[in-house]
Amino acid sequence: MDKLKVAVLISGRGSNMQALYASSQEPESKFEISLVISNRSKAAGIEIAQSYGIETAIIKSGDFDSREDFEDAIDERINQSNIRLVCLAGFMWLLGESFVNTWRDRLINIHPSLLPAFKGLNVQAQAVEMGVRFSGCSVHFVRPELDDGPIIAQAVVPVLPGDDESDLSARILEQEHIIYPQVVNWIADGRVRVSAEKVIITNVVMLDRAIISPRDIP
Ligand code: GRF
Repeated sequence: MDKLKVAVLISGRGSNMQALYASSQEPESKFEISLVISNRSKAAGIEIAQSYGIETAIIKSGDFDSREDFEDAIDERINQSNIRLVCLAGFMWLLGESFVNTWRDRLINIHPSLLPAFKGLNVQAQAVEMGVRFSGCSVHFVRPELDDGPIIAQAVVPVLPGDDESDLSARILEQEHIIYPQVVNWIADGRVRVSAEKVIITNVVMLDRAIISPRDIP
């Protein structure tokens, strides 16, 4: 069967893109990364993607007259590569309604908190500051509001005494690298759908214990 063609949009180091790539190379993987786009020319992830032999593009908002033109250019580039799923992975740009609606339910994001808690930037620092006992990460379908949309998967990590922002970020990031590829494989396998703005994942065996991370889901 053909693999699902995925585009990854980044702005920086691209560690989630790398985790997605590594997973796509597994023999049982159901997706392939066909394109990586960055809105920043200096994004470290772009060189990494090139070293993997993935097609890349740099599309910068400053090169366009309006936000719509910029987002249309991204859309056009994605369409050239026959992409079926767009993954935001540290893409530092709030995509507008037109793009988000065009890609509705085919556009996902990873966010380093247990949404709907802690939206926006520097959320790991906010979690430490707030003194919450647990945090984690969320993969969700994208809607026009910031860090909004039906949640597909979450992983929980403890916030330990003495943690600073970087301790917590590292603990969360490890989980991000597990759940993001997991979700993309589920989607590629046709197991994920949205109904009444809630996500239904088929063929999940429900366990009689708490699921800490989707890797625990058979
Ligand atoms: C991750 O923490 C992700 O959750 C957030 O931005 C960060 C991107 O990191 N949206 P990387 O570029 O994937 O390493």
